[in-house]
This record gives sequence, C-alpha cells and structure tokens, in this order.
Amino acid sequence: MSWKQLAIVCALGIAPAAEAAPGAGQDLAAEVRGIFEAKCARCHGPQLAKPRSGFGHVLDLRRLAADPDKVVPLRPDESGLWQQIDTGEMPPPNSPDGSLSALQKETIRAWIAAGAPAEGVSQSMESQPESAPSPSVVWRALLWLGKFHLLLVHFPIALLVAAAVAEGWSLWLGSRVPGAAARFCLGLGAVSAVPVVVLGWIYAAGGHGSPRLVDLHGWVGTAAGAWALVTAFVSERDARRGIRRWPTRILLLAGVLLVGVAAHLGGLMVHGSDFYDW
Ligand code: HEC
Repeated sequence: MSWKQLAIVCALGIAPAAEAAPGAGQDLAAEVRGIFEAKCARCHGPQLAKPRSGFGHVLDLRRLAADPDKVVPLRPDESGLWQQIDTGEMPPPNSPDGSLSALQKETIRAWIAAGAPAEGVSQSMESQPESAPSPSVVWRALLWLGKFHLLLVHFPIALLVAAAVAEGWSLWLGSRVPGAAARFCLGLGAVSAVPVVVLGWIYAAGGHGSPRLVDLHGWVGTAAGAWALVTAFVSERDARRGIRRWPTRILLLAGVLLVGVAAHLGGLMVHGSDFYDW
C-alpha cells in the first residue's frame, strides 16, 4: 500500500488491514488477467492484427508463462514483463487506459512469484476465516466513490470563478462594501473544494493517467482548495467589518488562477493534450 492509499484509508477511519495481500484468497490468475485486459489489451490483445512490438498474447496466460522473454515463473525480477512494469515503461505513460495502481503492480508481481498459474489458485479455504469481510470490496467501494471527483469538481471551479466575476463587478462599480454574491459563491466554492480534493486523491489511488501528471494535478488542486478556504475566511472577516480590503481581492484573483491551472491539468488527463487541436 502506498503512503497515499494509507493516508486515505486512515483518514476515512478504515483499518488498513482492509487491504489484504494481493491475491490472498482470490484467484490470482483471474485477477491478473483482468488487469491485463483493462490496461494492456488495447495494445497487446489478441484482437489486433498488428499488436505492439509483436506481443499480442497478454491475455493468454498459459502462453505468457511459457514465453521466457516475458515471464520467468517464480522469478519476477528476471521477467521482462515485470521489469517493463517496474520501471514504468509499461503501460506507456500516455496510455489512454492509464497507469497501474500500486496494488495492481503488486498483484502482477505476486502472480509471477506464485509460478504464473494460468488458472484457479485460490488458496485453501481453511486458512481463510469465513467471517472476515471481503477486504478488497471496501477498497473497491472507495475507488468507486473516488469517481465522483470528476463530477463534483465542476462546482468549486464554477463557484470560485463566479465569485471573482462578482468581485470584479463591485470593483467596476467602485464599491468597497463586500457583495453578497461574491461572499456566497466564495464560501460555497471553498467548502465544496474539500470533498473534491479528498475524492481526487482517492481517485488517483486507483491509477489514472501518467503518475507525474496525476501528482502535479493533485498538488496544484490541493493548493487551490486550501487557497480558496483561506480566501473565504479572509472574505468573511471583510464582511464582518463591512469593508472589502485589497489583499482579499488579490487573494481571490490568484486563487482563481490557481484553480484554472489545476483544472487545466485535470483536463489534460481526461481529454488528452490534443483536445483543442483543429
Ligand atoms: C498504449 C499502448 C500500450 C499499452 C496500453 C501497453 N503497451 Fe506494452 N508496448 C507498447 C509498445 C509501443 C511497445 C514497444 C515498445 C518499444 O519497443 O520500445 C510495447 C512493448 C511491451 C513489451 C516488450 C515486448 C517485447 O518483447 O518486445 C512488454 C513486455 C509489454 N509491452 C508489456 C505491457 C504490459 C504488461 C502492459 C499492461 C500493463 C502494456 N504493455 C501496455 C504499447 C503498449
């Protein structure tokens, strides 16, 4: 478990034990095949006339395990396929299906270490206490919840921009009285940024997009959310005193620019860098 997943799990009050070792009590072969299907088959699947690098049998586990260039059963570190994954070469950073999560990588490694079985190696049931809740279900539910980042993220963005527009309007009118519209939009925008940031990190833990871009977007987005909270706090102080101060306006403008950068980085991940090409 990476520290980010750990932080999220702890923050949400779920015992870290919720994530069992990869493959424990499950069908490693089926799990690995599922990962290959989601993350590799686009370029290495049997449906392609010309698979990338002539490697089109990623879904045929039996053939894969018998292909010493790719997999040396029991020895992940000597397996070309694992090396490509470990060094981050595969899937390629620009793969439309995104990168592998730490858990997915560990599952693939565990599969090779277990001898690269082609099917069913569920562990003996006696060693699995029946009462234990299925661990990965909790984690899967969390990752599913993380998808709502993509939905909710539009609210703070629009609200913070609306706050800046309202503030610009009162500036245009030469007013120093804090306006109700800016106050409302900024307050709601800042508060709604909190769940958006939390869900964003959960979504990121599922492995979407290239890790560097995900990290950059995550930290700029987190900074923008924190910035919005500070700005909302300062704006509330203005409202209480009945006078809009210049530093608040500058904070708001800078915050909206930060939100714009974070939003652009997020857009790059979802829609690709060629989205605006003619
Ligand atoms: C977006 C397309 C794409 C995806 C997705 C992708 N690959 Fe690749 N893969 C390539 C390309 C292109 C090459 C050739 C790279 C080169 O020669 O430098 C390659 C080469 C490889 C090779 C070396 C094959 C050889 O013997 O030359 C392995 C192993 C590999 N990929 C495994 C994977 C695995 C495992 C996944 C999923 C986790 C994956 N790839 C996902 C495009 C992709």
